[in-house]
Amino acid sequence: MGSWRFKGQATDGRVYDELVYDELAVGIARLTLDEPAAGVGQQSIESSACLVDGIVGGAMDSRAAHICVAAALVSAAVGYQLWRLLSRPASSSTEEAIADGVTGLIGNTPLLRIRSLSEATGCEVLAKAEFLNPGGSSKDRIALYLIERAEARGQLRPHASDCIFEGTSGSTGISLAMVARARGYLCHIVMPSDQAIEKSQLLERHGATVERVAPCSIVDRNNFVNVARRRAREYCAGGRQGYFVDQFENPLNAEAHYRTTGPEILRQTHGRVSAFVHGSGTGGTIAGVTHYLKPRVPNIKCYLADPQGSGLANKVNHNVLFADAEREGTRRRQQVDTLVEGVGLNRLTRNFARLVGPKCILDGAISVSDADAVAMSRWLMANDGLFVGSSGAINCVAALNVARALGPGHTVVTILADSGQRHLTKFWNDDAMAALGHPVVAPESLDAFKQVL
Ligand SMILES: Cc1ncc(COP(=O)(O)O)c(C=O)c1O
Repeated sequence: MGSWRFKGQATDGRVYDELVYDELAVGIARLTLDEPAAGVGQQSIESSACLVDGIVGGAMDSRAAHICVAAALVSAAVGYQLWRLLSRPASSSTEEAIADGVTGLIGNTPLLRIRSLSEATGCEVLAKAEFLNPGGSSKDRIALYLIERAEARGQLRPHASDCIFEGTSGSTGISLAMVARARGYLCHIVMPSDQAIEKSQLLERHGATVERVAPCSIVDRNNFVNVARRRAREYCAGGRQGYFVDQFENPLNAEAHYRTTGPEILRQTHGRVSAFVHGSGTGGTIAGVTHYLKPRVPNIKCYLADPQGSGLANKVNHNVLFADAEREGTRRRQQVDTLVEGVGLNRLTRNFARLVGPKCILDGAISVSDADAVAMSRWLMANDGLFVGSSGAINCVAALNVARALGPGHTVVTILADSGQRHLTKFWNDDAMAALGHPVVAPESLDAFKQVL
């Protein structure tokens, strides 16, 4: 019937309980029970004096009448469900803790308070611990969602030698390979050869076929995405069934985060989130979460964290897709000129385009240098014991900027998409980083990170 929660909140001297239904297709109905929290029990639950006190988000206004009717209809069920939950013995919660196979462990990740950044800014700086997904990253979410949708459409049939194809910088491949194994598919991953070698080793251990190809532009037929698409076609031409995931352009990618990551953040913060900050690889996470949160959290700010060499920050801030590294004679690497993996791009993907066209719904973009990304990763390890991957590091630099800019008392949410374990040979290799001139010792204070917002 949807999820529910309590929020004991003294606003006008009284204490209210709120029930939030976030699985009504049209949005959220906020029901305020006319009973004090201290008296939570059957009396208040059975109260028929439920008041629909507002619809969160302007987009839903035109449907307010529907919500009211829906809210009235569900209120009785709400009461019953709430009563059952409140009267249930504590031990029965273990029933819910049993996961149905490895895919049952995907999502519902904890929201973690980053103590050092919170204390320094007077804000709550929170991060989704996506590295706790069974495949080690947020990409587990889209792997499961896309495969389930492909199955529902008959594009994949388990245990029939159907093969999943994808071009990926690594994390999505590992998640796809894991879910493929769990559900009876083959998996073929094409990745750029400049990505950390442990990613292809992991892919092979998960039973995937791995092709590492030289990094080159998306317009080149040998770009990793184009090669993956071609391999899928070749497979099908041989009379077999192949499914090309196409995470960059496939709108189901953002939809997966709209349906899972966004609602989780709203639930875990009880709707009290001032800002959301995240980088963009395919754009799926930031598009899905931003589209989910914006209509539901009044005044929320959503920012892009962008690594150096990526053109997306300029697209958000100035509506021009251009990276400084594009200037003639200054470009060092083939693709995006950063050592951060998984985020940053110099083209508009369909998933990211949902944020910037025709009108940009992001509130700004923060460019983060590789040096700051490395320094933040070392800071988080030294001060919080957090072993973050490179995209998590740039997210935290940007989240620090946003928290400082908003000022004390705000809540800033970001994402730690994967762990440093995925980056041992590159981002977390001190010799390699020092050779590039990056600081590998944690800075003495957060003053080392320049405020750009
Ligand atoms: C480690 C890591 N972080 C962040 C991202 C970016 O997420 P999205 O593709 O949803 O923009 C990726 C994407 O591949 C990734 O691998």
